[in-house]
Amino acid sequence: MRERLGRECVYVPSCRLAVYLSLRRWCAPGGTVLMSPVNDDVMVFVVLAAGLRPVMAPMPPRDGNIDIRAVPESTWRSVGAVLTTNVYGMPDDVDELRTRCDRMGIPLLEDAVHAIGTTVGDRPIGTFGTAAWGSPSPIPPARVDRCVHFVRPWCRTRRGFVYSGP
Ligand SMILES: Cc1ncc(COP(=O)(O)O)c(C=O)c1O
Repeated sequence: MRERLGRECVYVPSCRLAVYLSLRRWCAPGGTVLMSPVNDDVMVFVVLAAGLRPVMAPMPPRDGNIDIRAVPESTWRSVGAVLTTNVYGMPDDVDELRTRCDRMGIPLLEDAVHAIGTTVGDRPIGTFGTAAWGSPSPIPPARVDRCVHFVRPWCRTRRGFVYSGP
């Protein structure tokens, strides 16, 4: 996976744990996370478990992802992170989300669970987020208790924090 994505990967025993670790690592305590309302329900509970508040984004009927242009500017200014889902393998406009997040100085967290193998341009899903994760668990024949956490080597947040590693 490291070779395929060109970024550091960490194997963790559950995808939910990968999401939880990412949220705790990259989101300010008590902050908000912009996400699509179409998602596995466990994701809402992981966001809550991490002490954060999910903010449901407007959603275009065609793909269930975040309707970037319909998100009010006041919401963009207030959210602490964006979580992109790539519902059923249909990617969000990740270039636009990445640009917005960089402009706001907030992390883009990328759920690649439904979209392992999907590319945007020639770039695989899983390479756009500050952190990303994947899991074979929604695919019954591939079900294993293991998932992958893809880590961006640095992240600048609104508070000017820089992470260099792992
Ligand atoms: C989009 C999405 N993210 C995360 C998860 C959580 O994965 P896991 O069940 O491996 O913890 C799922 C599970 O189906 C999912 O569909």
